[in-house]
Amino acid sequence: MSESALELEDIQSGVLSPRPSPYVATYILLRIDDRKVGRELMTKLSTVVASCADKTSPAGDAWVSVSLSFHGLKALGVPQESLDSFPPEFQQGMAARAHELGDGGESSPQNWEKPLGTKDVHVVLTALSPNEEKLESVLERARNTYVTLQGIQAIWRQNCHALATEREPFGFRDGISHPAVEGSGIPGTNSRERPLKAGEFVLGYRDEIGNFPAMPKPDTLGRNGTYIVFRKLHQRVATFRKYLKENSSSLEEEELLAAKMMGRWRSGAPLALTPEHDNPELGADPKLNNDFLFQDNDAKGFLTPPGSHIRRMNPRDSLRDTTNVNIHRMIRRGTAYGPPLPDGVLDDDGVDRGLMFVFIGASLRRQFEFVQSEWVNNGLLIGAPDEKDPISGANNGVGKFIFPRKPFRKSLQNLPNFVVTRGGEYCFMPGIRALRWLGDLDT
Ligand code: HEM
Repeated sequence: MSESALELEDIQSGVLSPRPSPYVATYILLRIDDRKVGRELMTKLSTVVASCADKTSPAGDAWVSVSLSFHGLKALGVPQESLDSFPPEFQQGMAARAHELGDGGESSPQNWEKPLGTKDVHVVLTALSPNEEKLESVLERARNTYVTLQGIQAIWRQNCHALATEREPFGFRDGISHPAVEGSGIPGTNSRERPLKAGEFVLGYRDEIGNFPAMPKPDTLGRNGTYIVFRKLHQRVATFRKYLKENSSSLEEEELLAAKMMGRWRSGAPLALTPEHDNPELGADPKLNNDFLFQDNDAKGFLTPPGSHIRRMNPRDSLRDTTNVNIHRMIRRGTAYGPPLPDGVLDDDGVDRGLMFVFIGASLRRQFEFVQSEWVNNGLLIGAPDEKDPISGANNGVGKFIFPRKPFRKSLQNLPNFVVTRGGEYCFMPGIRALRWLGDLDT
């Protein structure tokens, strides 16, 4: 492999290109019942997918991306030698990794929404656009690639949205912190963090350790591809609001507790820069709202608790060796599904709402699985092994969240599960040449 510039024209736009704001998105799962027809589908899809080099998409202001599960690659008849070259966790699929991911009890695969986590999930199509009208036209283009094909079944669909306020269902501004990727030309969101090596996110390039991450064979299939994690996460918004209320004596304290759990006020303003009060202007300012580290003025976490969601998910300079942080970074795209719970409602209305969580990265094991098992569902990082992430950890009614405060630390007990896994899958998002290669298979 050679040191070379990122081949942006071969990388699907969904990998690196930022999403518009606001936007709507649809996830469609397909099952391939006939391998030849599946290959024809790959060829057709390679013409509707935009690349990271496209200023506009083939469908004009709307984007489609394509990824495949291990069962999908098998259904296409990808040669065994090539299948065997994929990492074991990808071959096993997300449901089989439930133990590592903390998906037990109500989050366990036997309770997942069908067909998520089954062998039927082969292809994931993601379509997104700034508005419904354009989304429909791009969906039409995407649908045209398979509706006429006997042997391809659409088996699931999920509509999602990112509001203009960019608030996720708990009410926090999301989509703020993204790593810069060397060679992508897309700026990061924190001027104090250097761009990460492209090999952290795209296969075929050097990573932060200086290696070329393992790539599936042959090179034509692996190069410019990446791994994607789709996870449908149900959010118990009423439970979250009630928990805050029951553990506070005023509205102000509720908001402060919520901010301590997240590491940011609901406006997006970071505690690191405004620890006492929310500052909505700062929260909405993309130049400032992620421009901070922790170590200089907050080594002990009096401002941003070490156990808060954002400090766990990206400890920034909190670890002595920043490589140990950089090798676990991820590109993340969260999109809300379901209607927001109206303000002030404290009782569950039974409506399903939450986040379609998407991870993008070169290593499922070192990035997503590590973060999920070590930083979400374990507290060794913060010196409190039995504490889990207060927002998305599997706290099961016995969770704790303890944060430094003067004169005494504050201790929250009996955290319930605010988030329940409804299902998901590990996928491989091939480069555009690789999509054509899959279409041309003739074994
Ligand atoms: C329903 C569950 C979740 C909710 C509501 C949620 C919400 C949020 C919010 C509001 C932010 C701050 C905004 C931003 O920095 O963009 C954030 C940051 C982040 N979250 Fe989550 N999240 C959830 C689950 C997860 C999971 C499961 C992971 C990883 C396994 C994760 C990884 C991250 C990362 C890496 C960041 C950026 C941290 C930083 O760079 O400062 N999140 N999340």
